[in-house]
Amino acid sequence: MSGFKQLVFSGVQPTGNLHLGNYLGAIKKFVALQESNDCIYCVVDLHSLTAQLVHDDLVAQTRSITAAFLASGIDPKKHIVFNQSRVMQHAELAWIFNCVARIGWMNRMTQFKDKAGKDRENASLGLLAYPSLMAADILVYRATHVPVGDDQKQHLELTRDIAQKFNNDFSARIASLGVGVPMQIGDETVNGFFPITEPVIGGPAARIMSLRDGSKKMSKSDPSDLSRINLTDDADTISKKIRKAKTDPDALPGEVAGLEGRPEAENLVGIYAGLADMTKEAVLAEFGGRQFSDFKPALADLAVEKLAPVAGEMRRISADTAYIDAVLRDGGERAGTKAEATMKTVREIIGLLDN
Ligand code: TYM
Repeated sequence: MSGFKQLVFSGVQPTGNLHLGNYLGAIKKFVALQESNDCIYCVVDLHSLTAQLVHDDLVAQTRSITAAFLASGIDPKKHIVFNQSRVMQHAELAWIFNCVARIGWMNRMTQFKDKAGKDRENASLGLLAYPSLMAADILVYRATHVPVGDDQKQHLELTRDIAQKFNNDFSARIASLGVGVPMQIGDETVNGFFPITEPVIGGPAARIMSLRDGSKKMSKSDPSDLSRINLTDDADTISKKIRKAKTDPDALPGEVAGLEGRPEAENLVGIYAGLADMTKEAVLAEFGGRQFSDFKPALADLAVEKLAPVAGEMRRISADTAYIDAVLRDGGERAGTKAEATMKTVREIIGLLDN
């Protein structure tokens, strides 16, 4: 139970092509959630600077992710679609969260460790502080629910830790200003300014793996294009990639337990389930006992059927950059008004002179 108004927020970085993992793990959920929630969906361009500071095509990438949102069915009039850098309050709150969060918390993030590699001293400060900006993205709207793929789980746990520490550190100020909202923490009801956000992760497609290696997640940065299906791939490319996807020699099992120790088989079944809105159990009830030579063409047909319309819409919308920019401008204005309302109170809670 929480007194916060239910609000969905999520973000996608404008780096590289969107792939099937982004689509099934995140964007498809964004579309489903907009039916019965207020939603804010953001192209997080400031985050992308942590991977690469100098871009040739950041504007084009930002528009392309926006086109993917719109092509997938996100309604920018009922909800809010914008790019992060337009709303400077994200960066302002991130700075405050940099002072709330501890270096040890950031050092424990597996994505930081993976991305920084061996030469951690030489990683940018932005890469270390990445989760703090992510927490700010969410909490500047006091969002309660965040749909993401499984790889973002640790970042969302950190967002909860930051919210909780802010609420604790400033509990007296929050109480004296009367800006706390009641929420349940364990058995206790406490007043806090920031909600303890719920991740929305799960379903058969929360973690889509590489088509070449079932132990690695499907990723924009994998050097092999055969490892992923891009949202912009045409039907022939999608079919070829599925045909070439790594598998094992056995037939599909009749039950989910039989996928244990068969990561490539599990991944393809998960992809089918995600695309068809089925459970893995239901997919295996249909395909159990069949060989991959049967299953792969069915999967390819389904993937083409579901993705081709999105790719077509993306191409159509991408051609109209004036429309995309107008969506982002309008979304940025509406997001900015909400973010500023939060920041006014945050400045007051902290004691920053703002008159
Ligand atoms: P990003 O841009 O890497 O990915 C966008 C979304 O796609 C999901 N995803 C996957 N899901 C399933 N299987 C996969 N192989 C796969 N690969 C990616 C990601 O989990 C994500 O949901 N840090 C975020 C962006 C971000 C954000 C936020 C998200 C910034 N601020 C605030 C939510 C709320 C990221 O790098 O996502």
